[in-house]
Amino acid sequence: MNASPIGVFDSGLGGLTAVKELRKILPGEDIVYFGDTGRVPYGSRGKETIVHYAKQDIAFLLSKGVKSILIACGTVSSTLPPAVMQGLPVPCAGVVGATVAAAAAATQNGKVGVIGTEATIRSGSYEAAMKQLAPNVTCFAAACPLFVPLVENGHFLKGDRVAIPVAEEYLAPIKAAGVDTLIMGCTHYPLLADVIAEEMGSGVTLVDAGLQAAQQTKQSLANLGLLNGRQTGGQVAYYVSDVPARFNQLAQTFLGEYAGGAIEQINIEDYNL
Ligand code: DGL
Repeated sequence: MNASPIGVFDSGLGGLTAVKELRKILPGEDIVYFGDTGRVPYGSRGKETIVHYAKQDIAFLLSKGVKSILIACGTVSSTLPPAVMQGLPVPCAGVVGATVAAAAAATQNGKVGVIGTEATIRSGSYEAAMKQLAPNVTCFAAACPLFVPLVENGHFLKGDRVAIPVAEEYLAPIKAAGVDTLIMGCTHYPLLADVIAEEMGSGVTLVDAGLQAAQQTKQSLANLGLLNGRQTGGQVAYYVSDVPARFNQLAQTFLGEYAGGAIEQINIEDYNL
């Protein structure tokens, strides 16, 4: 048993979608969340910058004594070299492995779509992981750079007239490829699930990266004997790198039931691996 908190980080507040899932399945665990709100977005940046930022984010969480790290950000999960994750003093996993496993199990026709930020799609991470796990499954990937700002500006509900034409444009090639499963490989996309589902049609299974990664975190903490054994009462401490002003509004969007919890601004430049 280990009473230390679980660390979760993201380029911004989108990773709260993973926190929401973790809270549902591990309500007794404490969580430390870091959102790099001062430097978001990561998804349009180059590899070196993303790796540098991610190492600082990890160093901050380690300074808080976390027992494991969940990289909720699809962009970081796709870009950070596995050697960095494996070299940490605590178990650390991103969203790619768990998500690909779920998609491989879900597909019937061996055609899986992958959507994410530009950096995620450029990395080819999902295709590479699928090749390893299920070589007979073919991935069809598309970057959807406008999805993040759409969500952050409230354009994500079913029938949204701004989101629908954007989704049509981005998803057309994947739809034409005949996928029966679609990986939503970015923190923000679960909020657009209704719009995406409408566009893809009812026969397509959507795989939520945050949900899969949360379930994998629970499983691996259990396997390692690192759960704290409590069934209720877990607390979340939130840290951000920009002023916390927009936190309340966006946290509501991503967490659903943001019930409060301390929010603190930190200087992320003070941390490095
Ligand atoms: N959190 C990022 C991801 O999941 C989306 C936002 C960004 O581009 O930083 O890829």
